[in-house]
This record gives sequence, C-alpha cells and structure tokens, in this order.
Amino acid sequence: MEPLSLPEYPYSKLDDFKKVAGSHPGGVIDLSIGTPCDLPPNNVVESLSGASGLNGYPSSSGSSVLIESCSKWINRTFDVELKSDEISICVGTKEMVASLPHFLKRRDPSKDTVLYPELSYPTYAMGALIAGCRAVPVQVNSDFTMNLESIEKSDLDRALLLWTNSPGNPAGQLEDLEKIYSWSQAHGVLVASDECYCAFTYASSPRSILQSGKRNVLAIHSLSKRSNLAGARVGFYCGDPEIVSYLSLLRMHAGLMVAGPIQEAAALAYDDEEHVLAQKYRYASRLESLMRSFSVLGCKADFPGGGLYLWAKVPEEFTSAWDFAGNLASSIGVIVSPGDLYGRSGSSYIRVAAVQPDEKIFEIEQRILTR
Ligand SMILES: Cc1ncc(COP(=O)(O)O)c(C=O)c1O
Repeated sequence: MEPLSLPEYPYSKLDDFKKVAGSHPGGVIDLSIGTPCDLPPNNVVESLSGASGLNGYPSSSGSSVLIESCSKWINRTFDVELKSDEISICVGTKEMVASLPHFLKRRDPSKDTVLYPELSYPTYAMGALIAGCRAVPVQVNSDFTMNLESIEKSDLDRALLLWTNSPGNPAGQLEDLEKIYSWSQAHGVLVASDECYCAFTYASSPRSILQSGKRNVLAIHSLSKRSNLAGARVGFYCGDPEIVSYLSLLRMHAGLMVAGPIQEAAALAYDDEEHVLAQKYRYASRLESLMRSFSVLGCKADFPGGGLYLWAKVPEEFTSAWDFAGNLASSIGVIVSPGDLYGRSGSSYIRVAAVQPDEKIFEIEQRILTR
C-alpha cells in the first residue's frame, strides 16, 4: 500500500476569500460550509443541560431508546420496518463515510475500489484514500445524477462499494434510488446511500434506498442537518443485517461510541417532526431569496430537488468559479464554495449554503443592489 499523502482540507482553500470579505463594512456573510445556524429544538437542548449517565460507557451500537426512535422514524418516513440487527448508530456520519471503505476492505480484501459520484461530498474520495483503495469517480449526467452505465467493467469487478447521495450535495439532485438498488443487485456491489439531507426534499416525498430492499445496501442518516445538531455528532446506519452486524461489532471493538447524554437527546429529536418541517420551510424560503439575489448578478440557479444549497451557474464574464467567488468576497463580503471543490464537472458553478439567519440572507440582496 502507498503511503498516504494528505491533500489540503477543501475549505481551507477559501481562507484568502475570508480575509478579503472581512474588510466589507458589514462584515463577512459566510455561505460556504453547510453548518446549520438555526437552533435545535428546546426539549433536546434541555435534555443535554440535565445530562446524566456520564460515569458509565455508552452503548456503541446505540441505546435501546435511541434505536427505537430511529427505527420508528424510518418507519414513519419510508414505511420500512427495521429489525434490531439492521440498525446501529455512528458518531455523526462524516466519520462513517470516511471509515466505511477501510472497514469493508478488512471484510473483503479482494476488492480495492470505491465508486462515488464525480460531483459529490469530498469525503467519499477521502475515505477511499484512507483505506488505501482506488477512488474511482462515476460520471454524472447533465442533471448531476450518476451515470451508472459509464462504469467500466474493470472497475465494477474490483468495486468494494458505490456511494450515492440523494438529495445530493452540492447540486441538490434527486437520484433514482430504485434504479440504483437494482444495479446493486444485478452487479453484486454494496451500495452506501447517504441520505443525510432527506428531511429537506422539496420535489417529492423523502426517499430511501431501503424502500427497494435491504440486501447489500446501507442507508446512512444524520441529525446534523435534520435537527440542527451538527455539534452533537450523531447519526445512524441501517440496512443489510449481515453488514450492519459486522460494522457494529467492529465499531464496538474500536471504541467508537456516541456520548450517552447525546444518545438521549438524539432520541427526542427523532421523535419530533414539527421542528423539521419548520426548518424545511426556513431553508426553502432562504433558497428562494438567494435565487432572486444571485439572479440580479446574472447568476442563475434552479430551485434544488432537496438539500440546503443553491447550485448556481457562474456568469459568463467570469473566467472561473474561483474568479466569481473572489469577486463576491471583495464586492459584497459573501463567501461561497467554488463548484470544483466537489468535482471537475462543478467548475462552472458555485455552491451557496442557506445557512445564515434570514436577516443576513435579506442583507445580501441589499448589498448586491448597492454594490
Ligand atoms: C453529503 C454529506 N454526507 C455526510 C455529511 C456529514 O454530516 P455529519 O457528519 O454532520 O453527520 C455531510 C456534511 O455536510 C454531507 O454533506
């Protein structure tokens, strides 16, 4: 195995923009990283402030209360029943995404290839590199859905897993998960379906790969965006019982566990839908407002199928997404992510995260009109 040479952290590349934007009289408005700005539900916060159970080790696979809440939520949302060996928790989902190839390769060392959408969350490729696997991007269509037919037979034969992400980060596209499930069954390749944005699906009801079946698939869910709990670090994975049991036991041996008080609070969050609906409307209204503001700059975007990002085309007068992002930083103090942070096919786009309070989102419109 080659020694690991670590790339620069993607968002560190925006540090210079932040310095420039900092000199705007109104200060920086940061729409780059998708970190929620809104508060988690009150009862969840209250549960954390009265935290108990800190003396003992928490369950690695999840307390029975949390597993029940997650399973009920899956059932309510997707009409899928989960048995106890089909679900387990993780410490937020980024660590799961980054470690999954490594853990799966220990299960099947004959496979060394991680397939992931060419335009996607950078940790899919990073997880492959950490595992010493080949990170092979799957071409995307013009609507940014994956083109499964483009996968080379030689890569398919070596595939440890295929990642899918719907609603997708950064482009907000909705994948045909039934088709991806059938592809998985036909080719015998495990599919990991990252469904962390499903609560904010606008173009349809939320979809999960589990609605097609559980064999050789994992669905991965997070409370970070759904309930504004990115700071709590809690998510879960579910699906094929053989794979869930393997990962759950491995993760227990490795001491990967979510703190007990966080597990209690997470159960309360999964039991409630009201705050999620309110958050969904909040994002939808911010996305509409951002669409209007950016269109004044000649920067057009379609309303996303889901998620909390606007995926907007760079106006023609700019030479690149970096050129445009630099201009936004200096002219209106706004930081966005150049699209090629997520893959080459994003090079003429920017990603705008709707993660600032409403008054800041309205202020952008004012800044654009008075620039
Ligand atoms: C597509 C996708 N998957 C996973 C994550 C990780 O989220 P967390 O680790 O907070 O659960 C993110 C975070 O932005 C994401 O965009």
